[in-house]
Parts: sequence; structure tokens; C-alpha cells
Amino acid sequence: MAVDILLGLQWGDEGKGKIVDVLAPTYDIVARFQGGPNAGHTLEFEGTKHVLHQIPSGIFHSHIQNIIGNGVVLDPIVFQVEMKKLQDRGVDAAQNLFISKKAALILPSHKVLDRVSEEAMGSGKIGSTLKGIGPTYQDKIGRVGLRVGDILAADFKERYNKLVERHRKTIEYYGQKLEIEEQEQHFFAAVDYLRTLKLADTEYLINDALNSGKRILAEGAQGSLLDVDFGTYPFVTSSTTMVAGACTGLGVAPKYIGEVYGIFKAYCTRVGSGPFPTELLNEEGEAIRQAGREFGSTTGRPRRCGWVDLPTLKYSIMLNGVTQLNMMKADVLTDFDTIKVCTHYKLPNGELTDRLPHSLEADELEPVYEELPGWRVDLNKIDSVDELPDAFRNYLTYIESHLHVPITIVSVGPDRKSTLKREAVKA
Ligand code: IMP
Ligand code: MG
Repeated sequence: MAVDILLGLQWGDEGKGKIVDVLAPTYDIVARFQGGPNAGHTLEFEGTKHVLHQIPSGIFHSHIQNIIGNGVVLDPIVFQVEMKKLQDRGVDAAQNLFISKKAALILPSHKVLDRVSEEAMGSGKIGSTLKGIGPTYQDKIGRVGLRVGDILAADFKERYNKLVERHRKTIEYYGQKLEIEEQEQHFFAAVDYLRTLKLADTEYLINDALNSGKRILAEGAQGSLLDVDFGTYPFVTSSTTMVAGACTGLGVAPKYIGEVYGIFKAYCTRVGSGPFPTELLNEEGEAIRQAGREFGSTTGRPRRCGWVDLPTLKYSIMLNGVTQLNMMKADVLTDFDTIKVCTHYKLPNGELTDRLPHSLEADELEPVYEELPGWRVDLNKIDSVDELPDAFRNYLTYIESHLHVPITIVSVGPDRKSTLKREAVKA
């Protein structure tokens, strides 16, 4: 059997949570392999909306085992709140959840480090979610971090204090003071709670499941353009958001990778700083933001909006080996007479290219657009692919003909039910 992987091809917020929830019934295991509480995966069904940050999106299906893999950075405080919310909704999450002992722990001082480092960068700041992601991955790679398994050690408190002392010195270097007494109380209470859950060597769990023919879905967080190597560095997150991250973040050998679902919006968004070639800084961008309710599910920040960008999608598809595309939020573009698609970039020397130059900053390239007719039909009211208007079908086949990967799912609304499964059209 194989591990199928679902990931975002843009700058995150593509709608991964919804598709995991839609695909989940056919899987036995759903696993998160990177990121942490910076993620916000929104699921809607039966009239309610749920936002998950660290818990895999398979949690609403009682037959599914959910795994928080070793590549994740876990904040015990946020995690406990998340578990409580699920419990209040009648979901017995503790039963179906396994947490890797090798997952990195986010301490309260990591969040302070995130903030002081962003403040020190001034206008050059990353626009981090301030959840402590960067500092925690730094400690992991720097070989000084704490892991979930460490909470079982008798000297956990001493190890904690040692790491916090390091952080205190760094924070003082920035001219600030570390004051986290209250947060520490929450942290240790949450760690006590974490000890009662299923902490496991999840790499064995996954490989045993593979050997016994179980179906596994790995759920990516953020998006390929936020990948620490291939994203718009330094305006990226601190993890490998690509398929390769699922291998290292779960302990899965590359030969076991199966389908790769690439999720993208019918337009494009980005939250935080950094280049965004097709960004619309006009009323069209505002119209997309309002129609798509494009405000961060983790931070509430307004998302930057723009047209779909084929060079970046081609890049993400190439690096991830995407086998199927899922187009999200197609219903948001109803009110446009004309839809633009960026097909190429024009470089300062006049050359046209569909490859990504080293920098995507505005002075390095100019997006070149193709204009397609809008459909002016509320796609949210449509229940089958046969009813899709011709102009929208044209949009789909146009994109497929450039990307050479079939769009197998079209999402036309936030609810689980607003999902059209489409016969694959290979370009
Ligand atoms: P960090 O991951 O919190 O350090 O944030 C780094 C960059 O990634 C910032 O621009 C964030 O806005 C962005 N980012 C992090 N997580 C997400 C996400 O789940 N969706 C969208 N953007 C994200
Ligand atoms: Mg999100």
C-alpha cells in the first residue's frame, strides 16, 4: 500500500482541511507531517464550522486513526484548548489520536522569541503567525530542542529550565525581558494532560499500517510557496511543506508515496509579507477578499488576494510530483466579467518565461496575463459537473492544458457537500 499526500500548491489556505475531510472516509489513517499551530484548517459540515490547528483533519471520522508526526512542532497549550473544543462538540479525539514522541515541543519562550525577532526586523519582518514555529525548528536543527518524548523523563523540568535560560539570554540580547510565569503554568498543566494521551513511535505505527494494507493520507500544512527551500525565501515558514517533508516528517520511505493531491484556489492568496506577483491591490482584490471571506483562520489578518499564477503552480507540481489537482473556492469568482490567468513572467531584459526566477519581487518580473470570460453563475448552487457553465469548464480545461495534470475535484463552497468530483481530463 501507499501513503497518499495532500498539500497546498500556493501560499497556504488553499482549503486542504476541507478536502482531507471529504477524502477521509476512504482512509484508515490521517497524519500531519510538518508545521504546527500556525496552520488553520477549516472544515464545515452539518451547519457548523471547525478550525483545526494541530490535530489532523480526519478527527471527525471515528474509524480513522489520526497521527501527529515527528515533523510537527507541537504547542501543548494550544493543543489542550483544541482538544477541549472537540470534546465540547462530542468528539472523543483522545481515542483516535497518536502523537509522535519525536515531535518538537513549542515552549512559551519560543513564542516570545518569535515576537522579539519579528519586532527587531521592522519593515523586513516575515509576518509570522507568532506561534513560535521558527524558533522551535531552529532549536530542533540546532540540536538543543525538547521533544514530546522528553516529557516522560524524570528530569524534564531541568531540561526545560536549561532551554529557557538559553532563550532568556537571546531575548535580553534583543533588549527585552522574558516574562512568562503565567504561560508556564498553562504549559505544565498542558504537559500533564499530554502525558495522559497516546504518545508513540509513530514511524512504527505508520509502517506497520502500510504493511497490513491500511490506507494512509498525509495532510500537509501551509503551502509549497512557503517551503523553507523552494518557497519565497526568507518569507517562508520554517519547515519542508513539500512531499519530501512527509517522508522525513512521518518516517515513510519515498517508494511508498502514492497519489499526490495538489490543492489550489481558483485565484491566489497570501498572508504575511513577501512577494506575490499576481496580487491585486485594487477593488478587484477587495472583491475577492470579501466574496471569499479571505481573513486568516489562525490570526484573523486580511489575506492578500490575486489571480491564479501558472508559473508558480507548474513549479509546485514539478517539485511535488502532483498526480491530481483539486480546485478550491471556484464559487468566489462569480462576479467577474473577465478572469485573468498569469501564464508567464516578463523579465527586466524583456524575456518571457514560465519558470521562476531567483526572486519573485516586483522589480524582477512582470506577470503576463491571458483573459478568459467569466461565468457569472453562482457555482455554489450547482450539484453536478454536468451543470457547470461552459465558461467555467473552459477555465478548467485552460488550466489543465497548461499544467498537464487533471483537475479531479472542484470545490464550490465551504461545506463538505459542495464538492464536485470530476471525470479526469488528461491534457
Ligand atoms: P510562521 O510559519 O508562523 O513562522 O509564518 C511564516 C509565514 O508563513 C508568514 O507569512 C505566515 O503568514 C505564513 N503562514 C504560516 N502558516 C500559514 C498557514 O497555515 N496558512 C497561510 N500562511 C501561513
Ligand atoms: Mg489556513
